[in-house]
Amino acid sequence: MEKDLVVLLKEKRVFKPSKELIENSNVKKWMNKQGIKTYNELLEKAKDIEWFWEEAAKETIEWKKPFDKVLEWENHYANWFTKAQYNIVFDALDKHKDKDKIAFIWEGEPEGEIEKISYKKLYKEVNKLANAMKTMGVKKGDRVGIYLPMIPALPISMLACAKLGAIHSIVFSGFSANAFRERVNDETAKWVVTCDGFYRRGKIIPLKKAADEALLETPSVEKCIVFKRTGEQVEWNEKRDLWWHEITEKESDECETEILDSNDTLFILYTSGTTGKPKGIIHDHGGYAVGTAITLKWVFDLKENDVWWCAADIGWITGHSYIVYAPLILGVTSVMYEGAPNFPEADRWWEIIDRHKISVLYTSPTAIRMFMHFGEEWIEKHDLSSLRLLGSVGEPINPEAWMWYYKYIGKENCQIMDTWWQTETGNHCITPLPITDLKPGSATKPFPGIQADVFNREGKPIVDAGGELVLLKPWPGMLKGIYKNPDKYQKTYWEMYPEVYLAGDVARVDSDGYFWVQGRDSDVLKVSGHRIGNSEIESALVSHPLVAEAAAIGKPHEIKGESITAFVILKKGTEISEELRKELREHVGKEIGKLARPDEILFVEALPKTRSGKIMRRVIKAKVLGKDTGNISTLSNPEAVEELLKAK
Ligand code: WTA
Repeated sequence: MEKDLVVLLKEKRVFKPSKELIENSNVKKWMNKQGIKTYNELLEKAKDIEWFWEEAAKETIEWKKPFDKVLEWENHYANWFTKAQYNIVFDALDKHKDKDKIAFIWEGEPEGEIEKISYKKLYKEVNKLANAMKTMGVKKGDRVGIYLPMIPALPISMLACAKLGAIHSIVFSGFSANAFRERVNDETAKWVVTCDGFYRRGKIIPLKKAADEALLETPSVEKCIVFKRTGEQVEWNEKRDLWWHEITEKESDECETEILDSNDTLFILYTSGTTGKPKGIIHDHGGYAVGTAITLKWVFDLKENDVWWCAADIGWITGHSYIVYAPLILGVTSVMYEGAPNFPEADRWWEIIDRHKISVLYTSPTAIRMFMHFGEEWIEKHDLSSLRLLGSVGEPINPEAWMWYYKYIGKENCQIMDTWWQTETGNHCITPLPITDLKPGSATKPFPGIQADVFNREGKPIVDAGGELVLLKPWPGMLKGIYKNPDKYQKTYWEMYPEVYLAGDVARVDSDGYFWVQGRDSDVLKVSGHRIGNSEIESALVSHPLVAEAAAIGKPHEIKGESITAFVILKKGTEISEELRKELREHVGKEIGKLARPDEILFVEALPKTRSGKIMRRVIKAKVLGKDTGNISTLSNPEAVEELLKAK
């Protein structure tokens, strides 16, 4: 296999979509209607963003009351579709209420546990919960913290909140009690939703226990709704806890959807940034609905009979946008899976694809590399001929993994949509369409209506050299700010280049205008596609009583993309031991979540710092990876750089 791949890589092939794919694609049909002949013409014409996004809205959603202006842009805040009356639930749920079509095919991790939920049933379940929440006092603008795994109760909770105009804020179920508590306190949620437990790798993860621990110090929380998933014993707080099935039992399955302003907040999702605590990214109803729906319709080309599997977790933006909202707006059938990819064995995913005849699969490079590692024999046992398109997201995909995905999963029949975007962007920004020629490893070109570039330090566009990835114009799915932190919003995204959105990624544009995203700048890690701030890991370490200082860096990792190495300075007199190393690792797991635990913890006496006392991660990383550390003479302690290699 390796030989084949090397040959293919050397050829630097361009993968052209078939004529059939192009002609039948949603985007091409739309172009025909508009009299647009070529891909380039489409991109050129869509530079008129107000025209393009108005058309995109017509293609995907229906306003309750039409908008006044397509866009108002002030102080880096965009109001798209001003004064339109809307609620995303009208399009995601209410318009499908009479359909027997399946919205979600859900598989639990224990084998044989499959549930098919029709649009009609989903509508009723959401209404029941929304009515129960209303009885509890949940109303427009209230924040509801959700801590649930990949079970149908998760999308149901999201939609119930949105239906009432309440704001949901989901915390990934793999995150720790502390992470959940921190977010609930930041948003001062009065209500939270969780479940007793869930299955992962054959074991029960006791989520209610973690929620209980978090809720010991969340003064704003009044009620906790608990969904029964595993039926195991849980501790019960009579004053606070309510069983989901009990509070919904007698509620009506009809519930009026709150009519909102299109720009009202739909959700907050916390994500890691360059400094300090995770920031609460805000998204709205209308713009987000248009952005997610049109990208899913065009990039993954979904049609009436497709079975779509976005194999992400709803706790991340990919799941919010492409498991819940966009697929429901388009009315497609989606697959949702609770558990681990290698349970009970390494072919669980291929079994799922075969069983449900999935036609479009969207996953991450980390997952692809993991399956490469398991070997092709697991794939060969199953019929994957239902697949017609593939997708990748979350991190740069190395050409070797791209080729493997193309060859062994797509059987050389499926184009690969490598989509670049962020929690902040809400939807795909740089991505192929089914009409785009592909180059393995490149996310190709901006989606129509999105204008991207790569700038040097002086803010000038550069070609064929690494620089800062920027977006030049607002787009409807873009964030509406950082919750309770307008200064950080301005500083993070709008300070480096005036009037231009800074993505925080390093990228290159080639002479054909193709984008090659190389990764985050040095302050954010991507471990298995999950975004974790270096500073978050460092503050978790420093919160341990024996740690004085810490620096966390990412090292390239064959499967996970990046692995975490932490350098730790212990408090005076502390002895180094293997137990302590283990304890610190678990401590980070407890503070943030298992995925943030460092693979390597190394003890040092000093860390290189600037004269103002800032730890120089960039220098540490260069030294560890054997690269040029640049000029270190301005550091306050240049000798610490060499000492890194003697770390224990
Ligand atoms: C990275 C995930 C290369 C990038 C949707 C970005 C990618 C960060 C790609 C956002 C891609 C995402 N190629 N890098 N196709 N997609 N990234 O907020 O560094 O979890 O800034 O959103 O993931 O991560 P987030």
